[in-house]
Amino acid sequence: MNPSPIRQAPDQLRSNPLGLDAPSVKATVEELNRTLATLYTLYHQVKKHHWVVEGPEYLPLHEFLDEWAAQLLKDADEVAERITALGGYPVSGPAEQEKLALIAMEPEGVYALRAMLEKDLADGGKLVAALRQYAQGAAARGDFGTEYLLKGILLTQEKMLHHLEHFLGDDTLVRALLP
Ligand SMILES: [Fe+2]
Repeated sequence: MNPSPIRQAPDQLRSNPLGLDAPSVKATVEELNRTLATLYTLYHQVKKHHWVVEGPEYLPLHEFLDEWAAQLLKDADEVAERITALGGYPVSGPAEQEKLALIAMEPEGVYALRAMLEKDLADGGKLVAALRQYAQGAAARGDFGTEYLLKGILLTQEKMLHHLEHFLGDDTLVRALLP
């Protein structure tokens, strides 16, 4: 328990220097906190898959999943800093992030590689669907800075999902595996 008096409650909005009005900022901060929580939750899951992947495709997948995990953290950082720029509080602890996230972290343990990657693809799909909706919402409220940020993250994460889908493709050069 921290004995020092709280300076900003988690749901408290400070004034922002950007000229955006409080009601629109409140909605944007809520959506950005959901985005932040989802990015962190997906980060944990993707990093876990980077750790546990094995089999003939180990190395490229191990490297790709690490790259994706790093990108998720970088994007989460940008979102958290946008929240503070808007005068909001970025949800920071794992328990609160888990509650707010739009995806559920895979239970502990190792599963079949394809099943793990298909869950990453589905969860990434939920993330980009939310990013599209939130970018549109921010634009409708006149917050074009947040719209621009979310669209940038959207494009980067769409690329990651595109790469992941190719890893899951059913083509191969291994003659023994061809139909
Ligand atoms: Fe690593």
